[in-house]
Amino acid sequence: MTESATLELTQKQADARHVKRSDYASCTVAFIDCKKPGSHLKENYSIIGPGVSSSNDQVVNLPEPHGFNVGAAAMPSGITNNLHIHFTAEVFVVQKGSWTFRWGAHGEHSFEASEGDVLSVPTWIFRGFTNTGTDDGWIFTMLGGDNTGGVVFHPDIMIEAAEYGLFISKNNTLIDTSKGDPVPAEGETIPPMPAEDLAAIRDISPSEMTKRIVAESDRDFRPAFIDAGLPNCGAEIAPILGYGISQNRDHNPRITNPHTFSMEWLKMQAGQTVSPFVLDEKMVLIIRYGSVRLYLNEGSDVSVDLNAWETYSIPAGVVRRFQCLGDDAVEVLIVVSGDHRKWPRFRPEVLDAAWKDGKALDAGGFVAKASLLPNYGWAG
Ligand SMILES: [Fe+2]
Repeated sequence: MTESATLELTQKQADARHVKRSDYASCTVAFIDCKKPGSHLKENYSIIGPGVSSSNDQVVNLPEPHGFNVGAAAMPSGITNNLHIHFTAEVFVVQKGSWTFRWGAHGEHSFEASEGDVLSVPTWIFRGFTNTGTDDGWIFTMLGGDNTGGVVFHPDIMIEAAEYGLFISKNNTLIDTSKGDPVPAEGETIPPMPAEDLAAIRDISPSEMTKRIVAESDRDFRPAFIDAGLPNCGAEIAPILGYGISQNRDHNPRITNPHTFSMEWLKMQAGQTVSPFVLDEKMVLIIRYGSVRLYLNEGSDVSVDLNAWETYSIPAGVVRRFQCLGDDAVEVLIVVSGDHRKWPRFRPEVLDAAWKDGKALDAGGFVAKASLLPNYGWAG
């Protein structure tokens, strides 16, 4: 088997892909509803990718294209993000707080979400959310594609925003006449959606939406990798959407329509590691809780410690190894570019040790009892 060359990172290059919590830069004028009472205190974050903000003030931590965007919304108790449409997939991951998500032409359906819940809203559906908890809340958001095509707010919101002097230009830029922007001429702005088009928006019933929710209690954690039987290994994955990096053939994601990315939860107990592997796609890690040390390169000569709430982007082609730090477990959200199934390539010494442990990868790339395979050995 010939191994393709792997990419090596310097410590400086590795550090530049680490977005710490203090690096997240909020923008409170990102969208057309930013002056509406009850919505004025929402903070918008663009962490990876160009995002969908309508404001030029929005900071993007890692603007490099990943095939998807990662952002966040932070809102105090009682604050609402109003009904809007996206043209690519939008996935909400509740990091903190209690939230009510609403959807439908008039927000007539709702779902109560709490920490650890994930919801994927179909395209061309009006959606909004309110922090219905008693404390500040935080949601990570993933949007499909590099270019998400912008955002369209509900016509009621756009009509009200015009009363505050806010408009959206045809190229998705916020026009604020109270800040001196000239009043746009008719035809220069995106008009509110006509009533007949609003009426034609498809309805997603609550039972249909349930199939697009992976609540914390729904998660199906199973040992995920070929190294599961090796000392200090046995990390578990729970799929969320799309086909990710799990090598467990019993894993099935609940949500399978194309998003341009896959999402999985990775759980490691104290002291556990995931053995070194290479991936051909960009991989983003978001630490839900706990801490993990990320070793990079063939010789593990570069490392970065990732703590709760932080985001990290691993380039394609880099050897990476994870180690749970401290006395507690760590949970990591893993987002990988592409709708295809991903094939982690564990290093030959890992496959060799697994084989001695009686495990090999079958021709489908899934972990199997080696003695059951026609050619006793490992795939590839
Ligand atoms: Fe959104």
